[in-house]
Amino acid sequence: MKIYLETMGCQMNRLDSELAAGLLRAAGHEVMADRRGADVVLYNTCSVRRHAEDKVHSRLGVDAQRKADGRRIIIGVLGCMAQREGEGLRQRHPHVEIVCAPGQLAHLPEMIERAAAGEPAVRLDPGRASPPDDAAAAALEQAEGGRDVACMTSRAQAYVRVMRGCDKFCSYCVVPFVRGRERSRDPGAIVEEVRRLVDAGRTQITLLGQTVNAYRWRQGDVTVRFSDLLARVSAVAGLRRLRFITSHPIDFGDDVLQAMRDLAAVCEYIHCPAQSGSDAVLKRMNRRYTRAEYDDLVDRARATVPGVVLAGDFIVGFPGETEADHAASADLIRRSGYKNSFIFKYSPRPGTAAERQADDVPEAVKRRRNNELLAVQDEVGLAHHRAYVGRTVEVLVEGPSPRAGRQPASAPGCVQLVGRTRWDHIVVFDGPLALADRYVSVKITDASSLTLFGEVSA
Ligand code: SAH
Ligand code: SF4
Ligand code: F3S
Repeated sequence: MKIYLETMGCQMNRLDSELAAGLLRAAGHEVMADRRGADVVLYNTCSVRRHAEDKVHSRLGVDAQRKADGRRIIIGVLGCMAQREGEGLRQRHPHVEIVCAPGQLAHLPEMIERAAAGEPAVRLDPGRASPPDDAAAAALEQAEGGRDVACMTSRAQAYVRVMRGCDKFCSYCVVPFVRGRERSRDPGAIVEEVRRLVDAGRTQITLLGQTVNAYRWRQGDVTVRFSDLLARVSAVAGLRRLRFITSHPIDFGDDVLQAMRDLAAVCEYIHCPAQSGSDAVLKRMNRRYTRAEYDDLVDRARATVPGVVLAGDFIVGFPGETEADHAASADLIRRSGYKNSFIFKYSPRPGTAAERQADDVPEAVKRRRNNELLAVQDEVGLAHHRAYVGRTVEVLVEGPSPRAGRQPASAPGCVQLVGRTRWDHIVVFDGPLALADRYVSVKITDASSLTLFGEVSA
């Protein structure tokens, strides 16, 4: 069958979609980039904010209309929203025939067969209080290890999961409920997977976890910490860049910073969300660190890892956030000197602890605070990027920039290309398309708050 798979949400979901596409291809299906002509339409969904879920509901509404017009298409919902809403999804959208939770992806091919035979297929992960579904976990682990390289979106870079789930329970967050308990993967399996990917040409590997630096594997009396894992993975011959996302401030020991300093392949880039700069808000968010501890982490990182680049996340309008709390977040952005920050308006999520607090910051105030933090980050990001002007940096080229078609290039045979430095800066420059997936030296000539601009250096 022809299957269209649309991915929303975070890198975990992108990796899951690659896995799902591999399994579907192995089962003889065609996975297409265009939904026109598809027999099966699958959404790999996100529940982190209400807006993400609204988008899926509206897509499903349009699909219902198409089906009412007589098209025979199978509609499926995968991922975090499938787990969160479960059967409720089919009650609201009776035309949805597949509901597949993140831990059940290995069963997707047989679920499609069932749906094709006219029988709805729903597979959810057991709740956190129930025993884990070991069979599904083993099937997923096998799928992960035997990943089909041909289904990957990039020829130069790849994601590798080092842990699943999350046990942190930040009071606003749905992830521990939809992704289940935190479990680290066997370091041997991770290294093997990285070796296979590097052998297949992927020289930039990003290790993934909701709190990736909390990685911990115990076998007998040996404990493999995240810093040990970095050492093992970075020893894979041919690996050029090793990144990891996302870090949690409380798990950032000096051992990880020292590994970043000492291991040549490990990129000096830390995405470590603060969420707020105010102690009162951090406490109600159940983040388990204080502002002073976060500041200390930033100082330790800058003192230990030369040239380290930081990125953050913030939530504005958390219940009870005052103007003074908000000013503390702005101050933290300035103090941390982030390359970039993702700034979100608080969205109450069903079942989370914060949902029991009144969502008392009005939407207009959330919007204003969001814009204010964006403006501060813009200023900080511009100063950060400007400091690179005049330097020559190594860029892993991703491909033509989204504006490539509209932008006349400097020379015949060239297009506007986009790539990333090892510190995760976006770099835009002109060059031949053949540079895609290659490493090139680029001399930086200009900068904006989010982008470096330059020219290929001879
Ligand atoms: N595991 C990662 C982030 C997961 S969600 C971490 O702990 O850093 C990605 C980001 O979405 C979070 O960092 C947070 O800033 C934001 N987020 C999570 N829940 C939210 C909510 N209910 N409303 C608004 N933003 C939220
Ligand atoms: Fe959510 Fe907090 Fe876990 Fe991140 S650490 S996934 S924000 S509960
Ligand atoms: Fe969203 Fe699930 Fe990722 S809720 S942020 S897709 S883990």
